[in-house]
Amino acid sequence: KPPGPCLLVIFGAGGDLTKRLVTPALYNLACTHLLPENFAIIGVDHTASDDQAWRDHLSQAMQSFVGGTGEFDPAAIDQTAWTWLTERMYYQVGDFEDSKSFDTLRDRIAEIDKAHETGGNVIFYLAVADRFFGRVIDELGKAKLVDADEPAPADEAKPWRRVVIEKPFGHDLKSARDLNARILKVLDEDQIFRIDHFLGKETVQNIMTFRFSNGMFEPLWNRDHIDHVQITVAETVGVEARGSFYEATGALRDMVPNHVFQLLCMTAMEPPTSFEADAIRSKKVDVFKAIKPVEPHHAVRGQYESGSVLGKSVRAYRSEPNVDPRSNAETYAALKIDIDNWRWAGVPFYIRTGKYMTRRSSEIAIQFKQAPMALFAETGCEALRTNWLVIRVQPEEGISLQFEVKRPGPTVELQTVKMNFAYKDWFPPQQNVGYETLLYDVMTGDQTLFQRADQVEEGWRIVQRVLDQWAKTTPDDFPNYIAGTAGPAAADALLAQDGGRSWRPVAVDAGPKP
Ligand code: BG6
Repeated sequence: KPPGPCLLVIFGAGGDLTKRLVTPALYNLACTHLLPENFAIIGVDHTASDDQAWRDHLSQAMQSFVGGTGEFDPAAIDQTAWTWLTERMYYQVGDFEDSKSFDTLRDRIAEIDKAHETGGNVIFYLAVADRFFGRVIDELGKAKLVDADEPAPADEAKPWRRVVIEKPFGHDLKSARDLNARILKVLDEDQIFRIDHFLGKETVQNIMTFRFSNGMFEPLWNRDHIDHVQITVAETVGVEARGSFYEATGALRDMVPNHVFQLLCMTAMEPPTSFEADAIRSKKVDVFKAIKPVEPHHAVRGQYESGSVLGKSVRAYRSEPNVDPRSNAETYAALKIDIDNWRWAGVPFYIRTGKYMTRRSSEIAIQFKQAPMALFAETGCEALRTNWLVIRVQPEEGISLQFEVKRPGPTVELQTVKMNFAYKDWFPPQQNVGYETLLYDVMTGDQTLFQRADQVEEGWRIVQRVLDQWAKTTPDDFPNYIAGTAGPAAADALLAQDGGRSWRPVAVDAGPKP
């Protein structure tokens, strides 16, 4: 069902995010009739443009857009839906740091709200560089465009104002706390939608459904039956044109306290008592609270050397544009995380993420404990193997369960096999860039898939010691890895020292055969 009437104001209308994700997601929502009839968009940016030029710019981008998880075939664009959307698009020149721009914006909002009868409900989407987040929200407050005393999102009868904030939310614990304190002077937590786009992925949303709507797995989901968990987010892209951003960020900041921790807390959280956003978000925060700051000796970093990724030669990180030849930024990070609570005590969660790895693969792999004795050893079979449950987030989305069977034949020989659920076998491909659900949820006021202030801060707290230590050490310290491989050898040692464990191969075949 479409949400109620509203107006969407996008700061950063000329930016990449608006073009590549927000607009295609709005288009997809329009195609599936999940936008309200009384809907309008105002794009704000500092470059001179006007309504028609902005519509043309986005139409052009839509025609050539290929990316994300959805591919737009120009011929396949639903012109009715696209026209419906563009007719509701307006452009406003504005400086994100100039109060006068916000006064002008207020008048424009009033005018367009009236024309499209959007009911005074406004979403301010901050698709801008993170240095503007605090300032834009201050200015929204000063211009009386948002008001912390507004009704809770659930109260549909009264007009509401909501603010969407993109990543990164701070660059360490202190800056995240400062930013939260600053924006909470202007807004109520109920009005703030901190995006982590991993939560827009169907497979990530499915983790909770898989765990809490099946009776079969949850009794095993604890330290009695699980040996350890491995969470991998391996990418086959390098830093591309983002050298300067990456120099200031690195793999740990870019991926771990946000995306990887989302996977971790959904895997580790207790069942919520209800489907209320805060019931769920509190259970997630409880997981973080049970994690002590990771000690630097439980963390490994790496930087890619030149190599070959998916058959293509690539240069070393230190030779990338806008990268210091003695750069201290890591392109790979692995951590061992201990969750000190009753469910998980003694069950390490090993996480890793890296650029230019063997294969693109994001997965949560749960290794179960071995059977209590090697009954088949007498028959000459190898030592016990273990069972894996693997939730494949992307690509080849699905879930597989790996176990042992007897190979047909007169002798007793064991064979590892997989039961495999693949989304593509069950569901038609979706036209989806990953932002549709998130935008829809902002419009309906559902904060379940957005990060609460305490969750963001907890994420930073857990990695802060490692960030501090890594910032102190000299650039020559890196355990490097060749681009196109599974990461530095030091990361193997992180697991090997825990009783000889090892990472699952990044190049693992997701098909039926192991
Ligand atoms: C972004 C990071 O938040 O997530 C990028 O800044 C990373 O460095 C990207 O490549 C990964 O997202 P996805 O959806 O492509 O897996």
